[in-house]
Amino acid sequence: MSIPLLEVRDLHKSYQLKGRPPLEILHGIDFRLSAGECRPVCGPSGAGKSTLLHILGGLENPDRGEIFWKGESTSGWDRSRRAVWRRKAVGFVFQSYHLIPELTVEENVRLPAMLAGVQLGEAWEDLLDEVGMTLRRDHLPAELSGGEQQRVAVARALVLEPDLILADEPTGNLDGASAAAVLDLLVKMVRHRQKSLLLVTHDETVAGRVGTPFRITDGRMTETRS
Ligand SMILES: Nc1ncnc2c1ncn2[C@@H]1O[C@H](COP(=O)(O)OP(=O)(O)OP(=O)(O)O)[C@@H](O)[C@H]1O
Ligand SMILES: [Mg+2]
Repeated sequence: MSIPLLEVRDLHKSYQLKGRPPLEILHGIDFRLSAGECRPVCGPSGAGKSTLLHILGGLENPDRGEIFWKGESTSGWDRSRRAVWRRKAVGFVFQSYHLIPELTVEENVRLPAMLAGVQLGEAWEDLLDEVGMTLRRDHLPAELSGGEQQRVAVARALVLEPDLILADEPTGNLDGASAAAVLDLLVKMVRHRQKSLLLVTHDETVAGRVGTPFRITDGRMTETRS
């Protein structure tokens, strides 16, 4: 069997709130994601979907458990190794777009490269074209619709060609037609580049358009392979 892009073993996470018993969210999450695989992550509100995505993206630490990246355990990575990995290997798309309001569309898309100190070729302009935002490149986020902002966020997530895209309810703020268009665009672009996608959603219709769902139930991940 080939080495998965991402493998998670026995991941646990709880939150300690002052004067209250710990809130146990993830109770031993196990799963594998292959290179080029697109999977939705489903589960009810409060199940721990965002928590899991934050841990996978290195934005939060688990209490215990192990994460392997291309077969290598990430446990021994120091802060700077983690930061470099996060910038180069992972692209994020959030529900509320998270564009920088003071930067134009073009600057927002190029931002990851600037932060990583990477010189971009001209491919990023094709990316802008692919998300249909070339004519709006000088606009600020506040001048765009929700769907347009999310398309900019999709281009930004892909600009450094990361192997893994983590998307947390990326269409949660959009209305039906716009949500479907952004979702289809994201999935098409990820597939075309043969990258991997974990997309959090509680919407079964959205999940069905992405792939075979992982489900978080009672803090554990279950698979529904068709
Ligand atoms: N920083 C935190 N401190 C304390 N509790 C937290 C923290 N972050 C999340 N939680 C709790 O952890 C649980 C899981 O939260 P999480 O945001 O991962 O759920 P979710 O599955 O993404 O839900 P939703 O579908 O509503 O976005 C919730 O009960 C939440 O209140
Ligand atoms: Mg969430």
